Amino acid sequence: MRKLVLLGPPGSGKGTQAVKICEEFGIPHISTGQMLREGHLADPELDREMKSIMARGELIPDYLMNEMVKERLRKSDCINGFVLDGFPRTIDQAKFLEENVGVDYAILLDTPEELIEERICGRRVCTVCGGSYHVSILTTNVCPKCGGELGTRADDTPETIRKRFDIYQCLTFPLIEYYTKLSKLVDIDGSGSFEEVTKRVINVMRSLK
Ligand code: AP5
Repeated sequence: MRKLVLLGPPGSGKGTQAVKICEEFGIPHISTGQMLREGHLADPELDREMKSIMARGELIPDYLMNEMVKERLRKSDCINGFVLDGFPRTIDQAKFLEENVGVDYAILLDTPEELIEERICGRRVCTVCGGSYHVSILTTNVCPKCGGELGTRADDTPETIRKRFDIYQCLTFPLIEYYTKLSKLVDIDGSGSFEEVTKRVINVMRSLK
């Protein structure tokens, strides 16, 4: 059983490494950012409101996120574990998760701030399948997976990146201490190439019980 949380600032590589962990261990990747972008909220007006909060780089209220994640984790594909990417993001969300499901480890991708802006500014996302890439590995403006057109995320503007980073420092960074106190924090250096980080992450994951 592997019930994992990925922690790290915006653009630290959580989504990228979550895909690799899930391939390696055959567990689902649950990205709350992706779920919100795909419109998992039933009420269209609420969905529009949430998308505008996201475009401003602010956080969706805890009660909505907690219910959305609880529902998702009830699905049968989570029976052998999961990787949560983007949740929890506040102490209230982390407490909710511990009380309702519990996690085995919180993996922190410790990525220096100077790398983050370059990574986010170079991000391109597929408008069809949601696949995420960095311009440095693309040769065309077409998704390598499905052929869809690539674009940028509404919240990947310089001002919004700054705001997301400030919110991370204020509300999400305290989770490092929270999981340290529970002896669940695993700190991994998130700098270096895609392959270097993946190798580090998978090696650490294999060494954990
Ligand atoms: P979310 O989608 O979770 O965004 P985020 O946390 O800001 O994280 P990112 O997706 O920006 O980055 P990442 O760490 O996944 O990095 P990635 O692998 O893509 O959330 C978006 C919004 O939704 C939030 O702002 C909020 O409004 C809302 N939301 C979501 N969850 C919520 C919650 N729980 N509570 C409240 N609100 C919530 O990599 C970034 C780029 O770098 C990519 O281009 C990638 O190709 C590239 N890259 C990755 N690794 C490397 C490498 N080693 N070398 C070079 N480039 C790399």
